Amino acid sequence: MQKTIEFQNNAFTLLGGIEGIRSLADCFYDIMDSQPEAGRIRAMHPADLGPTKERFAFFVCGWLGGPQLYKEKYGSIDLTGLHSFLQINGADRDVWLLCMEKALSRQPIEDDFKNYLVQRFRRPAEKICNWCQQQFMQTPVTIKPDNG
Ligand code: HEM
Repeated sequence: MQKTIEFQNNAFTLLGGIEGIRSLADCFYDIMDSQPEAGRIRAMHPADLGPTKERFAFFVCGWLGGPQLYKEKYGSIDLTGLHSFLQINGADRDVWLLCMEKALSRQPIEDDFKNYLVQRFRRPAEKICNWCQQQFMQTPVTIKPDNG
């Protein structure tokens, strides 16, 4: 419990500040780019992952208690809204989290902190997935008239 509070209060610093977060973002998208099982979610992203890496790093920076770089540069972010045009399902969410877990394992951080961060990323990933599924279910299906 004590450790969780320490992680919560110091996540940005413990991950190595903006440089550590940039390194996590680079590693995460490089893993997504190279793992065949991540092909479906990789295909949702643009060919050039450079700008995506930067926006993600800026967002994570503020999200983990550091400077609000994303907000300053792009304005506030609604994570669910931002992903709602995508058809993200449970398998996509799990692959995304697996790529993140692998990327975190490659950072110079202790295991307990890594596990804490995996759980922390899980929450928005669940929310995004549930939201996308809901949006998808609500999309009206257009039935073409049968002229035959
Ligand atoms: C659940 C699985 C997820 C999938 C499949 C997914 C997929 C995507 C895709 C396709 C983009 C657009 C990339 C681009 O156009 O450059 C994106 C952007 C982004 N995602 Fe996710 N995402 C997921 C979860 C998350 C989570 C958990 C977070 C935050 C903790 C997150 C944060 C972001 C941010 C900050 C951006 C950039 C926003 C911008 O364009 O300004 N995503 N994501």
